[in-house]
Amino acid sequence: MGFDDKGLNGRLALAIAAAALGSAFQHGYNIGVVNAPGELIRTWINETHYNRTSEGLGKDTVLLIWSWAVSIFCIGGMIGGALTGVISERLGRKGGLLFNNVFAIIAAALEGFSASAGSYEMLIAGRFFIGINCGLNGGLAPMYLSEISPVHLRGAVGTVYQLVVTISILISQILGMTSLMGTAELWPILLGLTIAPTVFQLVVLPFCPESPKYILLNQGKEIEAQKALTWLRGSLEVHDEMDEMRAEYEAMKLVPKTTLKEMLTNQSLRSPLIIAVMMMLAQQLSGINAVIYFSTDIFNEAGLDSVTSQYATLGMGGMNVLMTVISLLIIERAGRKTLMLVGLGGMLIDVILLTVCLALKATATWIAYISIILVIMFVVMFATGPGSIPWFLVTELFAQGARAMATSVAVTVNWTANFVVGLGFLPIQEALGPYVFIIFVVFLAFFTIFTYKKVPETKNKTIEEINAMFRQQTYQ
Ligand SMILES: *[C@@H]1O[C@H](CO)[C@@H](O)[C@H](O)[C@H]1NC(C)=O
Repeated sequence: MGFDDKGLNGRLALAIAAAALGSAFQHGYNIGVVNAPGELIRTWINETHYNRTSEGLGKDTVLLIWSWAVSIFCIGGMIGGALTGVISERLGRKGGLLFNNVFAIIAAALEGFSASAGSYEMLIAGRFFIGINCGLNGGLAPMYLSEISPVHLRGAVGTVYQLVVTISILISQILGMTSLMGTAELWPILLGLTIAPTVFQLVVLPFCPESPKYILLNQGKEIEAQKALTWLRGSLEVHDEMDEMRAEYEAMKLVPKTTLKEMLTNQSLRSPLIIAVMMMLAQQLSGINAVIYFSTDIFNEAGLDSVTSQYATLGMGGMNVLMTVISLLIIERAGRKTLMLVGLGGMLIDVILLTVCLALKATATWIAYISIILVIMFVVMFATGPGSIPWFLVTELFAQGARAMATSVAVTVNWTANFVVGLGFLPIQEALGPYVFIIFVVFLAFFTIFTYKKVPETKNKTIEEINAMFRQQTYQ
């Protein structure tokens, strides 16, 4: 471990790029891409309906159809997330990633041709399929990345996925601008562009090997595993690493897998599970995706014209990338609980001020600009802690045998909450106007207090120490 000759080489970099760019890019791109052209697509939905039936739709109905198109992505995500286990076992990590592109191709075709076919149902179906693709990517790609990386690079490579997600959110927002592809003619191509990372992955990933761990631990093929590892390390001296993998295999067989029933009935597993679930809810119910999906609409609501709104959205996307980089750099040094509390507390104060600004927007034009700063700060505070800490906590609160089950529960909760926010935000904004964010004030206040009272600090603690804390409940 830690030898320079086993560090990053060209082939490993190629495999990382194939897996991360081809998968995380889909994930971020499709989160961000609905933001800028929202208004255009809503007009198109209405027109499409009018052409079919000679009747216009009410504003509420258009909003509802659009909200479904945005958020059905998350239902697909749940299904994809749930399929990760089966697909990664049956087809392998690389095989699963390659197979997953089928969903992306179906989705790109449905979305790209929805306008020419005059069907918003195709758009909704496309969002569903790309959701499945992203749910699977979110499980398979980090697995592949961590399994092909040498131990001392694992942390850094593990953060690549998240970073590419934020960068591709930004790219989707740039391409969605009115001066680029955010127009009534080009938006179907903007959505269909999700085919690009698929093509890249289908061209490059076949040259890379399957995860050596999968080949050894799941298929029991020693020689093939060694070949794959040799390819990735660019060195024949892989015996140490092979030995480590065998040892891990033996250790794995000794640890029984925890079932969901055990997790719910055993006190020392239930407490951390409740915390993990609450942190996922905190992440999504903070309202972050309301902002990421709909910031352009929010800026419009605050009184900015549509061009300025789009630039403000870009500023937000850029800050998101920057803060994600910073938080990844400090996460090992700062306490998890501290970062989570700072982030949630900051978002709480921010969203209170934002509500005031949106309510007062008619009184002075400069208030709209304060709203921009507040929305950007909201994303900054999110990236400080609530963006990444919940995922760290899930892995740190559980020992090997329980981690897989805890992760599945957490992923499901996360996509479900994301779905609820995506579906509910625009209709509720329509009903409550500027006071829509009060809902997030309530949630953020609750989760800030919960984190302060119930979440243990896991920094520099072993999993045994953490388990002991839960048994004795000394963490309060
Ligand atoms: C939908 O289109 C009809 C007919 O063009 C129009 O009267 C109506 O205002 C539109 N509704 C919305 C929500 O834009």
